[in-house]
Amino acid sequence: MFNKLTAMPADPILGLLTKYREDTHSQKVDLGVGVYKDESGHTPILTCVKKAEQYRLDTESTKVYIGPTGSADFNRLMSELAFSADNPAILANRVRTVSTPGGTGALRVAADFIKRCNPNSVLWVSDPTWANHTGLFEAAGITVKTYPYYDYDTKSLKFEEMKSALSNIGNDDVVLLHACCHNPSGMDLNPQQWDEIIELTAVQGFTPLIDMAYQGFGDGVDEDAYGVRKMAATVNNMILCSSCSKNFGLYRERIGACSIIGKDAAASDVAFSVLLYVVRCIYSMPPAHGAAIVETILGSNELKQEWLDELTVMRDRINGNRAMLVNKLKEIGVTRNFNFITEQKGMFSFLGITPVQVTQLQSDYSVYMVDSSRISIAGIGTGNVDYLAKSIAKVL
Ligand code: LMR
Repeated sequence: MFNKLTAMPADPILGLLTKYREDTHSQKVDLGVGVYKDESGHTPILTCVKKAEQYRLDTESTKVYIGPTGSADFNRLMSELAFSADNPAILANRVRTVSTPGGTGALRVAADFIKRCNPNSVLWVSDPTWANHTGLFEAAGITVKTYPYYDYDTKSLKFEEMKSALSNIGNDDVVLLHACCHNPSGMDLNPQQWDEIIELTAVQGFTPLIDMAYQGFGDGVDEDAYGVRKMAATVNNMILCSSCSKNFGLYRERIGACSIIGKDAAASDVAFSVLLYVVRCIYSMPPAHGAAIVETILGSNELKQEWLDELTVMRDRINGNRAMLVNKLKEIGVTRNFNFITEQKGMFSFLGITPVQVTQLQSDYSVYMVDSSRISIAGIGTGNVDYLAKSIAKVL
C-alpha cells in the first residue's frame, strides 16, 4: 500500500529547522521559524511559566481524562484575554471556547466545524498568508481562495483591493483575518481599517475567522485585540483561533483555544455541541499541561503581571531588532530603502529580495529565511546584525 505514495517536499517553514541545525558555519543566522529568541539566540522558558509549572507540580492531584472541552478555567481566562471580560458577546453568554492542541489544533477544529456548518463554504485567506493555512483547511475538505492584502512593491496594504474583494463575498463563506502581527508580512490593519472591515463583515454576512497567534507581540495585549473585540461585539457569528505558543513561550506544550460566537446563547449551545463532536472525532480531548500553566498565570494577579512584563521585554526586543537591522544596513552603505521594516509589527517582515538571493544567502552565508524572504525578526541580535547586514548587502 505505501509504495503508491510519492514523497512530500519538506515544510517550507519547519524544514528550515533541520537545515539550520545541521549547518556548521560559525556565524550562521536563523531567521526561519517564528520563535522568540533572546540576545544570545536562546528561546527561554518564561519565569512566570516556571513558577506556574512548579505550582502545578506541587498541587496537581490527578491525571484523569479532562474531556473534549479541556479546562473550563483556561477557556474562560483565554476568552476574557482575547475578547475582554466586558465584551457584549461575553456578557450575553454567546462565547463558547475549547482548549486545543496549539493554535494549529484550533484552526483544524475550526476547519472541521466550518465543514459541518456548510460543506460548500469557501475560506478566503489574505494573499499572502501563513504557509500552513491553505494546506490545513484543504486537508479538511474546504476550498481556499485568496483576497488581496500585501503589496510587495510598495510594502503596504492593498486595503482598497481587499475591501473590494470582501464586498463580493456572501454569507455562505468564511474570511480568515489575522488579529495582529500578520504572518508573514508584518502589515496589520490599523483601528480605522478594522472598523471598515468589521462594518463590511456585518453587511456582507460572511463569518469572520480570526487567527490570533501573536497577541501581545504587536503593540500590547489589549491593543492587539482591537479587531477581535470589536468584531465580537458587532457580528452574529464569529470564530477565533488563538495560540499560547508565542506569547507564553509554550511552543512544545501545544496549547491554544478555539472560540465560537453564535447569535444568541441558545444558538451558541447548539454550535458548541457540534464543536465538541468535531473535537472528539479528531483528537478526543486536548493535552492539559499547557492549559494548566496558562490558567495558573492568568488566574493570579501577581503571575499575570509578571507575564505581561516578560511579554513586554520580548515585544520591545523585537521592535528594537527591527530598527537595529535597518540602521545597520544604512550604516554599511546599502542604498535600498528598508524603512518599512520598522513600520511593520510582530515577529515577521518580508525582506523583499528574490528567491535566488534567498538561496544565495543560505548557501553562501548560512543565513536562513523562508523562500518568500520572510524573516523572523527575533533571530537578529547585536552579535549577528553586522554579519547579517553585510551578507544581505552582498547578495543585493
Ligand atoms: C511560523 O510561521 O514560523 C510559526 O507559526 C511556526 C509554524 O508552525 O509555522
